[in-house]
Amino acid sequence: MRSQRQATAGRGRWRVGATAWWCWAAVVLGHLLSCARAGLLETNPGLAYNFYAKTCPNLDSIVRTITWQQVAANPALAGRLLRLHFHDCFVNGCDASILLDVAQSEKTAGPNLSVGGYEVIDAIKTQLEQTCPGVVSCADIVALAARDAVSYQFKASLWQVETGRRDGTVSLASNTGALPSPFAGFNGLLTSFSNRGLNLTDLVALSGAHTIGVASCSSVTPRLYQGNATAVDPLLNAAYAKTLMNTCPNPSPAGSTVNLDGGTPVKFDSSYFVNLQKNQGTLASDAALMQNAAAAQMVQDLTNPIKFYAAFSMSMKKMGRVDVLTGTKGQIRKQCRQVGS
Ligand SMILES: *[C@@H]1O[C@H](CO)[C@@H](O)[C@H](O)[C@H]1NC(C)=O
Ligand SMILES: *[C@@H]1O[C@H](CO)[C@@H](O)[C@H](O)[C@H]1NC(C)=O
Ligand SMILES: *[C@@H]1O[C@H](CO)[C@@H](O)[C@H](O)[C@H]1NC(C)=O
Repeated sequence: MRSQRQATAGRGRWRVGATAWWCWAAVVLGHLLSCARAGLLETNPGLAYNFYAKTCPNLDSIVRTITWQQVAANPALAGRLLRLHFHDCFVNGCDASILLDVAQSEKTAGPNLSVGGYEVIDAIKTQLEQTCPGVVSCADIVALAARDAVSYQFKASLWQVETGRRDGTVSLASNTGALPSPFAGFNGLLTSFSNRGLNLTDLVALSGAHTIGVASCSSVTPRLYQGNATAVDPLLNAAYAKTLMNTCPNPSPAGSTVNLDGGTPVKFDSSYFVNLQKNQGTLASDAALMQNAAAAQMVQDLTNPIKFYAAFSMSMKKMGRVDVLTGTKGQIRKQCRQVGS
């Protein structure tokens, strides 16, 4: 038994050594960049499935129970909680910086309308602080709640969430420029995803999040009324443009919203991709995916819901690793809206 275990450990060490050797050779050859990329994709950043198995064994059921209750009462929360995780990860990494209530914090920045569910995170944190105080990070709660909010309609978890993130201490509205703009063209979208270590596959798969949720009318009206009432974005299906105009008149009342998926706005299905093929993407950044041949091919693939769920799961896991704080970095907040002392 023991010798077997030693042999296994020995093999593990050898593997690490081999990786280090490969990286070193790459450095010598001047391929620094590919080395960094390999690190980004292949090394475990300190996250694990069931990170809290010993320290907070009821975590999963607590998060799921509260999230499912809240989404049952208010289906719009699914899109909001999903967007909360996305915005958190894109701005300063998945570190719950979006939750902080400080002057000029991320949540005061413009692209905040489609985000929400802060009170759900608070309710979960309150319960967790009673069950396992000071253990579970707010960043992990955001990641788990996003998964559970989307999964509610399936009554089963749609993807697995790695945990072990720790909470950051900085939240700046000025950092939200990292978020992709609703007006972005294809290259702009790909650049903001690449800046986060995410590639074309992730861009297309994660855009599928727009199968639920809403956008601000102000993110759509420039496509509908380009300076006058007759010029409509040529990438937009004429009948769908009319529907959008009914929901978002010119000018639209402040705070008005429109469903991102015009067909099945609260169902997490692959209809987003079917819509794109019919020029019925709601945002310019949705339509942009059809302007690149490789992306359009992926859109075609993901009209198959089974492929969409698989691709979405993989890319969510990758997104959940973006610039995470692990180990002794960051902190575990007592209250998600405030930096701990
Ligand atoms: C969202 O951003 C706007 C500024 O663009 C701000 O007025 C509003 O208070 C923000 N919402 C929240 C919940 O902070
Ligand atoms: C994106 O990265 C994943 C691995 O994380 C890989 O499977 C996929 O092929 C990549 N896509 C592209 C277009 O390079
Ligand atoms: C509306 O705008 C388009 C493009 O900007 C222009 O070609 C068209 O002449 C304008 N129509 C009117 C009635 O001003």
